Amino acid sequence: MAQADLLFYNIGQLLTMDNGSDGPVKGNDMQKLPVIENAAVAVKDGKVLKVGKQEELADIDADEKIDCGGKLVSPGLVEPHTHLVFGGSREHEMALKQQGVPYLEILEKGGGILSTVRATRETPFKDLVEKAMFHLDRMMSYGITTMEAKSGYGLDYDTEMKQMQVVKHVKNLTSMDIVSTFLGAHAIPEELKDNPERFLDEMIDMLPEIKEKELAEFVDIFCETGVFSVEQSRAYLEKAKEAGFQVKIHADEIDPLGGAELAADVGAITGDHLVGASDKGIRRLAEEGVIAVLLPGTSFYLCKGKHARARKMIESGVAVALSTDFNPGSSVTENLQMIMSLAALNLKMTPEEIWNAVTVNSAYAINRGDSAGKIAAGRKADIVIWDAPNYLYIPYHYGVNHVQKVFKAGEKVYE
Ligand code: NIG
Ligand code: FE
Repeated sequence: MAQADLLFYNIGQLLTMDNGSDGPVKGNDMQKLPVIENAAVAVKDGKVLKVGKQEELADIDADEKIDCGGKLVSPGLVEPHTHLVFGGSREHEMALKQQGVPYLEILEKGGGILSTVRATRETPFKDLVEKAMFHLDRMMSYGITTMEAKSGYGLDYDTEMKQMQVVKHVKNLTSMDIVSTFLGAHAIPEELKDNPERFLDEMIDMLPEIKEKELAEFVDIFCETGVFSVEQSRAYLEKAKEAGFQVKIHADEIDPLGGAELAADVGAITGDHLVGASDKGIRRLAEEGVIAVLLPGTSFYLCKGKHARARKMIESGVAVALSTDFNPGSSVTENLQMIMSLAALNLKMTPEEIWNAVTVNSAYAINRGDSAGKIAAGRKADIVIWDAPNYLYIPYHYGVNHVQKVFKAGEKVYE
């Protein structure tokens, strides 16, 4: 009889997401969902030892046995796009939004991202750590066990470094796996508003030090009207690649500028948002294997009534991932389950596509496809027990937290 540390048994539906192949799940394959009914999972030394039908694990004894009550069990969710570290908040912008003031106009007048930049510059390191931990713990309570975190509320050397150091520090305080992205090119700071080229040069000058100190794995840019043009973004991302980074783009979020085409041209790992992506842009994403990270919470929260064309992307063979875009302005939520509901209602994604998008594909979107997003022998035991009878139930019953227990590397981190 083999001995495990932990045995999850009486699992009604187990989403292993173990599709037997490497790489993100593309296009119509997203409709396939690896599910085992009446399943069990054994864990040893923080890793999955065996997965299968309950009777297939009858030869395994365990120090601790967890009765899953016939409910749904899945891998820990993977959140591939957040702006985790920031000072202050922007609740006063809600009234402006209700009056119909556009997001980009608020930014142009020194509000929006720039108001968070002022707050982040003023907030001491330890307070940023505390605040980041607060939001991160909430994400974990919603079932997220691996996430990405961007900088981008500093827009100067000191504060961008401070944000990335906060992420590095937070990694020591949590069992959440965090992947860091440098988003220095998130807006043009007020002090350089007439000289964006000089600002971008300053950000480019930071790249070797960020690389050397391993402060970020990805470089991202906000390619948007009034922020950075397609040509500025292209030149910037080429420099980032030369400095050894993989790149991401906030692309076609508000205006359709050709951000999707740019993501394909520069070989970005992901194009994010893509609300205004053109037919050609979507075709190019499929051709180059760029993962589309869709953020339906942002479309919902910006009240534009326009949504990313997920159906067209999937039909075209693109791999789609989903994210909260958690940030203090355009999407103020840590609840990825709510995003799953919005993806169903507004992006018309099926439950099967949605589960692929918040596990396997979101893991590949942050280069963690080998370690996160699946329950399979040898992988870290990142496991969520849901208070739900089946996988359809999570997008269906919206706005609440269905998580019963979260395990990270075999340790219970939320109940
Ligand atoms: O992904 N669009 C740029 N960045 C964020 C919003 C940041 C903010 O408003 O503070 C986004 O939507
Ligand atoms: Fe974002």
